[in-house]
Amino acid sequence: MTILIEQQPDLAGFPVGEKNIPRDTINELVLDGGFVMPKTTSDGFEAPEINSFGHSFRDYNAESERQKTVEEFYRVNHINQTYDFVSISTIPRILSIIHEVKIKSGLLIINVKRMREGYAKLDKAEMSIWECCELLNDVVDDSDPDLDEPQIEHLLQTAEAIRKDYPNEDWLHLTGLIHDLGKVLLHPTFGELPQWAVVGDTFPLGCAFDESIVHHKYFKDNPDHSNPSYSTKNGIYEEGCGLENVVMSWGHDDYMYLVAKENGTTLPPAALFTIRYHSFYPLHRAGAYTHLMNEEDHESLKWLKVFNKYDLYSKSKVRIDVEKVKPYYLSLIEKYFPAKLRW
Ligand SMILES: [Fe+2]
Ligand SMILES: [Fe+2]
Repeated sequence: MTILIEQQPDLAGFPVGEKNIPRDTINELVLDGGFVMPKTTSDGFEAPEINSFGHSFRDYNAESERQKTVEEFYRVNHINQTYDFVSISTIPRILSIIHEVKIKSGLLIINVKRMREGYAKLDKAEMSIWECCELLNDVVDDSDPDLDEPQIEHLLQTAEAIRKDYPNEDWLHLTGLIHDLGKVLLHPTFGELPQWAVVGDTFPLGCAFDESIVHHKYFKDNPDHSNPSYSTKNGIYEEGCGLENVVMSWGHDDYMYLVAKENGTTLPPAALFTIRYHSFYPLHRAGAYTHLMNEEDHESLKWLKVFNKYDLYSKSKVRIDVEKVKPYYLSLIEKYFPAKLRW
């Protein structure tokens, strides 16, 4: 798999560390009811009806500045995330991380398989899970129409909401805390990848883009769209092959899965599945791509669906007393992870 580097329009994103962005330029989102969920679910979870901006969740169709930023994000994401290559705006720091660089027709060609292998080496940093939570505090996710809070708030809101309803599933509490830590890929230490290569909904590569993928229309400019090998329902895969054999668009899900697995976490398979596919909305929301799943995937998907309600609806103005809950989460980190992890 290869990344093709060329000039791309700016995402108008919010770089790591810029906390003082004038919010009035991004936070107007008109209610349009993209995804409607019942306020109270069968398991008693009280879902807030509005997000941080005071509007409905995952509303990608509203006309507003924030929505335009999100749509532009997905336009660039959908054009560039391909099986064989991904074209990205030139970011010098990325070059020190991605080792296979060639120049062809004036374009820089970067091998994505090597990039994945590069990140799998986990040689970028050494830190604890909690230190990583703190590092994420400066990151704002461009792709998310619902979230305008520091990431650590979202992590703890998710974990605490799960803890309230599933007090005995401590592994799921910790999954809530760590599921987005892969967003450190946005940080300079990790190559400062562009937002479209880190966040947003994920989808399989090497087979047809399902119409349920948000802003599907932009795939028409993705080279894979017209590649006969990749544009059939199964593409290069066999039915029931299992999601672990499917190449997903690159992002924070897959990276955090790698980090957890390679550092020898004792979290159960459902936790690793949840971390790896929590942005795979076409699967867990729309039911697409189930023909690629195996039996174990179906088992884990049940927990991912439970988790998703909390991932989505915790993005509201629920304040968490970080110092108060910190000891509990430190004890879970100690139970399931080594003191220091390689990243
Ligand atoms: Fe996420
Ligand atoms: Fe999340």
